[in-house]
Amino acid sequence: MKFDYQLLEKSKQKEAIKTIKGVPFGSVRTNHMFLMDYAKGEWKNARIVPYGEINLPAGALCLHYGQAIFEGIKAFRQADGSIKLWRADKNAMRINHSATIMCMPHIPVELQLECIQRLIDVERDWCPNEPDAAMYIRPFMFATYDSLGVKVSCTYTYCIMLSPCGPYYSGGFDKAIRLVITDKFHRAVAGGTGTAKCVGNYGASLRPGEYAKSRGADQVLYLDASNTYLEEAGTMNHYNVLKDGTFIIPAFNDSILRSITSETILELAEMGTELSTGKLKARLEQIPLNDFINGLKSGEIIEAGGFGTAAVVSPVGSYLMDDDTVHTVADGKVGKYSRALYEYYTAMQNGTKESPKGWLLDV
Ligand code: PLP
Ligand code: COI
Repeated sequence: MKFDYQLLEKSKQKEAIKTIKGVPFGSVRTNHMFLMDYAKGEWKNARIVPYGEINLPAGALCLHYGQAIFEGIKAFRQADGSIKLWRADKNAMRINHSATIMCMPHIPVELQLECIQRLIDVERDWCPNEPDAAMYIRPFMFATYDSLGVKVSCTYTYCIMLSPCGPYYSGGFDKAIRLVITDKFHRAVAGGTGTAKCVGNYGASLRPGEYAKSRGADQVLYLDASNTYLEEAGTMNHYNVLKDGTFIIPAFNDSILRSITSETILELAEMGTELSTGKLKARLEQIPLNDFINGLKSGEIIEAGGFGTAAVVSPVGSYLMDDDTVHTVADGKVGKYSRALYEYYTAMQNGTKESPKGWLLDV
């Protein structure tokens, strides 16, 4: 594909940020963004332009009816100074899945990877080179056709922006978070949009998120619509660790986003990966809430947390229930199995531990 570049003059560019320490997740922008338009069945006008505003008609369908989807990907600075994308092909496939759910056009995986690679190439200086840091990549697609009739758009824009980042939770890996378990809110239902990264799912998560904060917690751990089974949190899949060190992730279904982090961990377990705590064991399983609470009380469950691109491995220290009961996970601190997995996973991303061929892509 032909790319146009309208690069900022060097003199007008912001200097790349020196450190992401203490910088809130998602708050930094680099100098440029990528744009590409869709009309008449074709993606065209691929261009890299200075980061900034996007022109849209006031009646653009994305603004009124939420026809918009996104992805979250990370790139990592390697010891030799190069930059590698982590499993970006999986994200490219997932945005096409989200596009199917939201009646939007696909973008060939190879083309998506090229767009991301070209943008990062322009912004190389911005890729952090410090522990627990990455270049967070946000590709997104939105409907641009001007219509107040509720319908599928015939025009779209695909955009990519970059944000050098540190940990998603300000306390980082070492500070276990608290989740609220409630029957007041649900993220998704069978037949809905739960498996898509569509903007509506995140808009709907704001009120539960505020509710969690008002109760001194970090996020809601959603239950299924019948309040019987664990599903996932607002920005990560959930896991718990059994006494024998096995990671259990709620079985994927129609209302859970298939986390690429979870899938990677399941693949690593299947490959027989050795962590510092022994062989990694992980599986999917439908988890009844009652069994989960009983497991916390009996000590059968010794660790818990969330998996995600932004969240990586985020240990959970306690769960707050609707009646204010608090269930602590073991001693409430970060456990050894979560730590061993976090260390192995991030070492693969940074290239200090070998990862299977194709998981790290060149930029
Ligand atoms: N679940 C939800 C709702 C998310 O927003 C995310 C973040 O992407 C995840 C799970 C984790 O998915 P992944 O590991 O692919 O980032
Ligand atoms: C990610 O982990 O990439 C996400 O999409 C989470 C987020 C909404 C910040």
